[in-house]
Amino acid sequence: MDDGAVLEVNGIVKRFGSLEALGGVTLSLHSGDILGLIGPNGSGKTTLINVVSGLLYPDAGSLLLYGRRIDRLSPHRRSHLGVNRTFQIPHPFMGLTVRENIDISLLFGKRGNRVDLDQRAEDILKLAGLSGVSEHKAGNLNTSQKKMLDLAKALATEPKVLLVDELAAGLNTSEAEAVARLLKEVRKSVDAMIVVEHVMNFIKKVTEDVVVLDAGKVIFSGKFIDAVNDSKAREVYLRKASGT
Ligand SMILES: Nc1ncnc2c1ncn2[C@@H]1O[C@H](COP(=O)(O)OP(=O)(O)OP(=O)(O)O)[C@@H](O)[C@H]1O
Ligand SMILES: [Mg+2]
Repeated sequence: MDDGAVLEVNGIVKRFGSLEALGGVTLSLHSGDILGLIGPNGSGKTTLINVVSGLLYPDAGSLLLYGRRIDRLSPHRRSHLGVNRTFQIPHPFMGLTVRENIDISLLFGKRGNRVDLDQRAEDILKLAGLSGVSEHKAGNLNTSQKKMLDLAKALATEPKVLLVDELAAGLNTSEAEAVARLLKEVRKSVDAMIVVEHVMNFIKKVTEDVVVLDAGKVIFSGKFIDAVNDSKAREVYLRKASGT
């Protein structure tokens, strides 16, 4: 056990039938870390986020949050303890307004008495750049705004560990740059983050530390700059780029 770790992921295995989506993934997050989680399509990035956030239970391995086992807890228990995530494809309550969506997370995403909900909601709306659309129905938002609402909902639960799944995918360059700046701002209010992303320029802007997954296994862990020069990590990306 790593005493100083915020989150420890130890030998996590997740199978879907005969497919081993995660084949014994081990990594750890310490206070202040932003870990870039990269890898080709189907390498297990979202599955790992699902296992850590509680949407899926692992078949083997353990998860420790500040030294406490969390791998058999439900997603809402983990949210109360400080683990939350965004979704690759956000599904807000489409018929509710942006503000109502955030209010639900503020009210139910965290245990204990909540004070000054109005102020919290306004701060989060502002941070996520959604103040101007707070009374719009979530279903009427564009893709970028829906992603920001998903982040806002996660932030409303006051996560200590925030897991971000492809927040910049599908955004144009200036939108993605704004998201990268936003994540750096968000880091100030969370203890540690995992950021999943395909776009390397985006990862580079957000963090230096990466884990590369391939077919459910960690094939590289270290500095982004060293991943670029690592033969295994390069091969995975070249294979992906050539479509083989
Ligand atoms: N609920 C599920 N049932 C069956 N197979 C699944 C399920 N979820 C994921 N998989 C499979 O597990 C593997 C890992 O998928 P995952 O979504 O974690 O990859 P990813 O790295 O997030 O990919 P992408 O970059 O495309 O988002 C894939 O082969 C996928 O088809
Ligand atoms: Mg994914």
